[in-house]
Amino acid sequence: MAWRNTSTFAVLRETTLREQQVDLPVAVDRSDATPLVVQVGDQLRAAMRDGALRAGERLPSSRSLAGLLGVSRTVVTEAYQQLYAEGWLDGRHGSGTYVADVHGDRPAEPAPDAGVAPSFHAPDPGLIDLRPGRPWVSAYDTAAWRRAWRAAGDLPMSAWPDLYGDPMLREALADHLRRARAVPAGPGNVLITRGTGNGLDLLAATLLKPGDRVGVEEPGYRSARRIFASRGAEIVPCPVDGDGLIVDDLPAGLRMIYTTPAHQFPTGGRLPIPRRERLLAWARATGALVVEDDYDAEFRYDVAPLPALYGLGPEHVVLLGTLSKSLSPDVGVGWLVAGRPLLDRVARTRKELADRTSGPVQRAVAVLLDRGDLDRHLRRMRLEYARRREAVVAALGPWTKGDTAGLHVLAELPEHVVPEVVAGARERGVLVDTTIRHHHGPPRVHGLVVGYGSAALHDVRRGCGIVRTLLDHALQEP
Ligand SMILES: Cc1ncc(COP(=O)(O)O)c(C=O)c1O
Repeated sequence: MAWRNTSTFAVLRETTLREQQVDLPVAVDRSDATPLVVQVGDQLRAAMRDGALRAGERLPSSRSLAGLLGVSRTVVTEAYQQLYAEGWLDGRHGSGTYVADVHGDRPAEPAPDAGVAPSFHAPDPGLIDLRPGRPWVSAYDTAAWRRAWRAAGDLPMSAWPDLYGDPMLREALADHLRRARAVPAGPGNVLITRGTGNGLDLLAATLLKPGDRVGVEEPGYRSARRIFASRGAEIVPCPVDGDGLIVDDLPAGLRMIYTTPAHQFPTGGRLPIPRRERLLAWARATGALVVEDDYDAEFRYDVAPLPALYGLGPEHVVLLGTLSKSLSPDVGVGWLVAGRPLLDRVARTRKELADRTSGPVQRAVAVLLDRGDLDRHLRRMRLEYARRREAVVAALGPWTKGDTAGLHVLAELPEHVVPEVVAGARERGVLVDTTIRHHHGPPRVHGLVVGYGSAALHDVRRGCGIVRTLLDHALQEP
C-alpha cells in the first residue's frame, strides 16, 4: 500500500534517545481491505527495514500515534506487539518503545512480496525464542554429517545436473517416504527441490496463469500466499477449524488448493480421514490440484500416524516435503512428489528458469538417508520434541490446541489479552508469535502460536511459565 495515496497521513516529530528528530511517515487507508493493524505494522517495518528508522530511535507512544492516525489505541498496540514479537522493537520497561538493534543478525530483506517473513532471523541469544517455524539444529550428529560430506566429496561432480535431482537421493527418498508416510511413489515420481518454498514456486510457475484462483488455508502459511501471489494468482482464503481445512463448500473455480493436512499451520489440526476423502472427491469433481505441504509430518505425539493425502489420490495431489524441520532449513533440500506427466512439466519449468538444487548437498543427504543417520536423528528429535511439547502443554494446557504433531501449538485466547501477553513476554525476554499475521483477511482465530523447536527444554519451561503468569494476570483484569 502506498502511504502517499492514503486518506490520513501523519508526520510525527519524535525526539529520540540520541536527541535526533525523526520524521515518521505512517498512514492508514480505511478503503483498503488490509486490516489497520497490518497497515500500521507493515509501514513501520518497512521504515525500519529501509533505514528510515534506526536502532535506538524511539517510537511515539501508542496513544499519541493512535491519536494522530485517528485509530483506536488497540490498533497501534497490536502493531507494536507484532513488531516486538518479530524482534524489530525493543521495550525498556516504563521508558518507551525503541527500534531494536537488528543489523548485526538480520539478513537483508527482499521486497515485501518476495516471500520471506521478517521474523526469519537469528534472535538475540539472550532471548527465549518460542516462535514457530524453527527446528533445534544443534542436536544433529556432527560425525554422521561429516561422514556424509566426505562420501559426497568422493563422488564425481556432474556437468549436467539432473533437473529431477540426484538419482541416488530420489531413490533413497522414495524409500523413506514409503516407509514413513505411506507414499506410493517410486524415484520417478520425486523431484528434489531446495525446500517447500522452491517447490511451491515451481508449481506456480508451471501451472498458474495470471488471475488463476488459488485456495489457501485461512489462517495459513504466509509464504505460500506470497509465492502464489507473486506468480499472479488470486488468493482465495479457505477457512480452517480445529481439524484443519473445512472441505465442504470450498469456493468455486479454484485451480489449486494449498493445505497442511498433517498439522495445519498455524492452528495445528490433523485432517481426519473422512475430510481427506471428501477433499479428494472435490478435487476429482472440479479438476483442481491439491498441494499437500507435509512440512513437519515426521513429528507426532501419542496419536496414530495418518498417511499422506498423496497416497489417497496421487493423480490429484502434489506432495511437498522438506528437510527444513527434520534437519535444518540451512541444508536447502526438499522434494516434490507428483504423477509423472506433471513432474515432467515441472522439470521443464526448472530448465527454463535455470533452477536447480546443489548436487553435492543432495549427495550428502542421500548418504545420510542411506546409512540410516537421518532416521536415527529423527528418532532422537521425536523424544526431545515430545518433552518440550509436554512442557508447553503443562504450562498452557487449558488453551492449547493442535498439540498432537509438529513443533508448535496454538494457544487460543480471547482477542483482548493477546497484545498484553505478547508485549509482557517480550519485555521479559520471551518471543511468541500471534495468529494475526497468518491471516490473509481479518483475523478469525486469536491467540499465540507457540513454537518449541528452537528453544532448549529448560527455556521452553521457563518461557511458557512466564507466558502463563502473564496470561493469568491478563485474564483476571476486568
Ligand atoms: C507451513 C510451512 N511449510 C513449509 C515450511 C518450510 O519451508 P522451506 O522448506 O521452504 O524451508 C515452513 C517453515 O517454517 C512452514 O511453516
